[in-house]
Amino acid sequence: MSRPRKTPKELRSFRWFGKDDLRSSGHRSRAKQAGFTPDDLDGKPVIAILNTWSDANPCHTHFRQRAEEVKRGVWQAGGFPMEIPLMTLGETFMKPTTMLYRNLLAIQAEEALRAYPADGAVLLGGCDKTVPALLMGATSANVPSIFVPAGPMLRGNWRGQPLGSGTDVWKYWAERRAGTIDECTWREMEDGIARSFGTCMTMGTASTMAAAADALGVTLPGASSIPAADSAHVRMAVAAGRRVVEMVWEDLQPRDILTTEAFENAVTAAMALGGSTNAIIHLIAMAGRAGASLDLDRFDALSRRTPFIANIRPSGKYLMEDFYYAGGLRGALDRLRDLLHTGCLTVNGRTLGDNLAGAFVGNDDVIAPRDKPVGPEGGVAVLRGNLAPDGAVIKHTAAEPRLLRHAGPAVVFKNYNDLEARIDDPALPVTPDSVLVLQDAGPLGAPGMPEWGMLPIPKKLLAQGVRDMVRVSDARMSGTSYGTCVLHVAPESFAGGPLAFVRDGDIIELDVPARRLTLRVADDELNRRRAGWTPREVAYPRGFGHMYARHITQANRGCDFDFLEGTAPIAEPEIH
Ligand code: FES
Repeated sequence: MSRPRKTPKELRSFRWFGKDDLRSSGHRSRAKQAGFTPDDLDGKPVIAILNTWSDANPCHTHFRQRAEEVKRGVWQAGGFPMEIPLMTLGETFMKPTTMLYRNLLAIQAEEALRAYPADGAVLLGGCDKTVPALLMGATSANVPSIFVPAGPMLRGNWRGQPLGSGTDVWKYWAERRAGTIDECTWREMEDGIARSFGTCMTMGTASTMAAAADALGVTLPGASSIPAADSAHVRMAVAAGRRVVEMVWEDLQPRDILTTEAFENAVTAAMALGGSTNAIIHLIAMAGRAGASLDLDRFDALSRRTPFIANIRPSGKYLMEDFYYAGGLRGALDRLRDLLHTGCLTVNGRTLGDNLAGAFVGNDDVIAPRDKPVGPEGGVAVLRGNLAPDGAVIKHTAAEPRLLRHAGPAVVFKNYNDLEARIDDPALPVTPDSVLVLQDAGPLGAPGMPEWGMLPIPKKLLAQGVRDMVRVSDARMSGTSYGTCVLHVAPESFAGGPLAFVRDGDIIELDVPARRLTLRVADDELNRRRAGWTPREVAYPRGFGHMYARHITQANRGCDFDFLEGTAPIAEPEIH
């Protein structure tokens, strides 16, 4: 599709560098201070490279180098690169959870693009929340942007066995707690589970969100599947730098791409891949920034009609490196063509359908054919009922099928510290039929809605061979986790949702096929408990947490800040 091209005088950056006035002169002289000449800058689109590289984020170790490679592409295409470091959200080291800071990075991205002379942007992210955060910020700034995903790290390896990030940590840690693995073996596993830079190489949140971004059309086609350490990743970064310059001239903005149909493509992709439950929260928040329509019910409807075809851990067998060799996301999407809006525009100026030309699947065991899917429907189900009036979610493809219809007595933990203190107590009145309940783990209660939702199995049950049981919380769960874990219960317990009123011994009924989550307690008894409940203040007398507590929305709304939602235009900065 050909679009009218901008002229140099129509660039945002012209207001900074092009005028014959005192301020522009100052800006030009300061570009010279950095060693650039008018030939480098005059009339060229300024491309902001928003970089989340940091020593605090081992998944992004290669982004220093990738930023240079993006710059190479920008120079080749006649642009002027300007690298801008932003806060990173290193999933492994940041506490209590990166989710507490997703919106802060989104604000940084939006304001950096607005306050600096950015005509276009390349977004370098990958580790879980950096994907939605950068895209939310770029969408709100509505500056032509390409997302460069960090790419998955190499497969893990332990004595020749492939190890998957997170998934195999949880699995073997349960064995360590059960006493079947010694410390020496455990250390060997630590040596082999993270073998290169790049994101978790299971279908965790990072892989899911990168694939969602790819299906949305905001990466170069297929970029999300390229392993971080593959030279194709370098070539993709250079190509992104080249392409974004053209996007500026074409004025191809995020909101031209991020339509309701594009979000449905992203949900379909995430569901077909057995993707992370975190994608629900992030995609709803991203859609809110783009003015697109997406809610929990639409998510569930799309999940029900989408076959699960990617045989990748935690719901399947393989890892992201295998997925790439088998054809990657383009191969998977090609198998889903009839479920996709193939006419959606993407960052390369072509449609999603055009971009699937030449896609292949080289291994049906990794990317299953439609007539023999890994599972008949998508990985996530949305539950409702008197325990979750505004919804809850479960990744049922990663649960033991026998538990998908289950009723059992609740064992309630008031918060994570309470859980940690009692979960392995031999006197804990718990059986394999119990339903473990965790309160105060939601957006406000924790705060930050950490990935605590895969509650550990009590040691005494592990010793009996139990490896899964029903668990219910208002927390999230790592995309690499598994088990029958009901998550994102809304409203959360801290905000006075019914989860706050569950007591030990109450019967909780889970019925995934019927999409129900029921607390079998009479309404008048629940009302009595509610009447005796006293709201508490979030413990942030000042600082970012103070603002967070006043503006965070619940999980069913995407946990964006209420004042960041929507598409209301914000004026360009004054320059005087
Ligand atoms: Fe960075 Fe998993 S810890 S992607």
